[in-house]
Amino acid sequence: MKGNPAGGERMIRRFSRLRIFEHWGIVLCTLILFATGLSQRFWHLDFSQWLILKMGGIDNVRWIHRYAGGFFSLGLILNVVVAVAGVVRGKWAPSMFITKKDFSDAVENMKYYFGLDDQPAKCDRYDYMEKFEYWTILMGGFLMILTGAVLWFPILVTKILPGEIIPAAKALHSNEALLIFLINALWHIINAVFSPEVFPLDTSIFTGYISRERMAREHPIELAKLDEGTPE
Ligand code: HEM
Repeated sequence: MKGNPAGGERMIRRFSRLRIFEHWGIVLCTLILFATGLSQRFWHLDFSQWLILKMGGIDNVRWIHRYAGGFFSLGLILNVVVAVAGVVRGKWAPSMFITKKDFSDAVENMKYYFGLDDQPAKCDRYDYMEKFEYWTILMGGFLMILTGAVLWFPILVTKILPGEIIPAAKALHSNEALLIFLINALWHIINAVFSPEVFPLDTSIFTGYISRERMAREHPIELAKLDEGTPE
């Protein structure tokens, strides 16, 4: 546990520099992918036309989307490889895996929110909402990569698979894009910005630090392990 030299409050290191860099990478890639992808899907809107012209025309927009897609794919694959390597080498516990406790935590929290219990669920490094968000974005991300690759290399793909795969990939890519956009814009932004617990911004993924008081409230099991000096 380290103190943050910038803050008066007792702070705890939650995210490494690698995680902060990775988060910035995913934010930038998804912003570019949403702007270049959704402006193609909703090409008839004035705003899309304006955006496409600002980016130098439709050919540029399509190439920017593909390059950003390449970086996005690299980021997601690296995330999984680093996570698995860390678990295999015993550097960290598989804390993102969904367990039975997540379901009972969700029920416990519901009871707490409705005043049927006097304390919320005691969570470990990641609570059930963080896990749900992570897995939806990861699974959705891999679906986007797979369908994006089919749209990028249609001739190659149809040498092996039937032609129907192309319109199916387009429908999946296009609709999953909207779903990911909604999950990001509604769920993630509400949790990270508008939640009363963190408003006006949860800065932990930008600074790497979280207050001890928030750890005690949101991740008491991890805090107890840190205090005991046992690896989480
Ligand atoms: C969060 C990630 C992504 C979002 C939100 C997104 C969004 C979109 C949207 C909305 C479209 C337009 C579909 C339509 O016209 O109905 C599109 C097209 C396309 N996307 Fe993505 N996409 C993402 C990731 C990727 C990735 C990872 C790749 C490449 C591996 C990719 C490659 C393509 C290709 C090739 C097209 C067809 C347009 C073209 O020929 O340039 N996308 N995307």
